[in-house]
Amino acid sequence: MTIRIDDAPIVPIGSGGGKRKGGRRGSAAGAHPWRGAAALEAVGVYAWFGDTMVLEDVTLSVAPRSVTALIGPSGCGKSTFLRILNRMHESVPGAKMAGEVLLDGQDVYAPDFRITETRREIGMVFQKPNPFPAMSIADNVTAGLTLNGTKVSRSERAELVETCLLRAGLWDEVKDRLGRPGGALSGGQQQRLCIARSLAVGPKVLLMDEPCSALDPTSTNRIEETIRELSSLVTIVIVTHNMQQAVRVSQRAAFFLAEQGAPGRIVEQAATESLFGNPSDSRTADYVHGRFG
Ligand SMILES: Nc1ncnc2c1ncn2[C@@H]1O[C@H](COP(=O)(O)OP(=O)(O)OP(=O)(O)O)[C@@H](O)[C@H]1O
Ligand SMILES: [Mg+2]
Repeated sequence: MTIRIDDAPIVPIGSGGGKRKGGRRGSAAGAHPWRGAAALEAVGVYAWFGDTMVLEDVTLSVAPRSVTALIGPSGCGKSTFLRILNRMHESVPGAKMAGEVLLDGQDVYAPDFRITETRREIGMVFQKPNPFPAMSIADNVTAGLTLNGTKVSRSERAELVETCLLRAGLWDEVKDRLGRPGGALSGGQQQRLCIARSLAVGPKVLLMDEPCSALDPTSTNRIEETIRELSSLVTIVIVTHNMQQAVRVSQRAAFFLAEQGAPGRIVEQAATESLFGNPSDSRTADYVHGRFG
């Protein structure tokens, strides 16, 4: 069994060690984090809460192994859009959507695409770190596997915990206290623990909704480093109100805007350098230069 923790290619647990005891392949073969990054495409996405349309005709393509930043004023629909990408929007009472979300070309809203599969393929990290506070650090990492009923052996689990914590940039700080509760970590460490937890189920895309907004500058730097490193493994879409952060971590950026009670739309999407350095729409220029929002 081999896990490479440097850059791809990554060998999944259970794929390199041949037969195991009892002649079975590794039970965690499907549980390993590095299953490859996917392309993600939203096509003509609309969203409603009740009768109110909050997103209109949003089309966005995200290349595999890239970081895309979503920016825009409060209330323009960035979080709603992220929730549509991994089918969390439909859990909100009264919420509806239209359009397509394609993961490597497959519509995650197609009847044969299960919601649990979507959530596994497309992970989410929230603004407020939300580890299970009483659960150990190690158990927090593997909580997603436990929830979706994936069985892993003790050694595979230990390896998975280490790999995910390494990838989330937390291993060195917690390797001697993996049995301590997740809630005993600092806010920044908790957020990296949540990233490790998201990685453990093997997502191909990671969505991050203002993952640093509750963190101090040092923790923010650590998370940004982690994002840059992870982008060689998974596709990342990050919502941020921090323009410098968008410039530091992303290759592409999309500017969302909801004008005068209208639904949110993408005004402009481009390479990050060009969206910030030479925006083509005057509204984008006003926003990125801090003239509103
Ligand atoms: N559960 C909900 N029920 C009704 N309306 C909602 C709900 N969640 C969000 N909205 C509305 O949908 C619109 C988009 O909200 P959303 O949270 O997606 O914006 P956002 O761009 O993420 O804002 P922020 O930058 O403040 O996080 C807003 O008008 C908001 O009031
Ligand atoms: Mg939001």
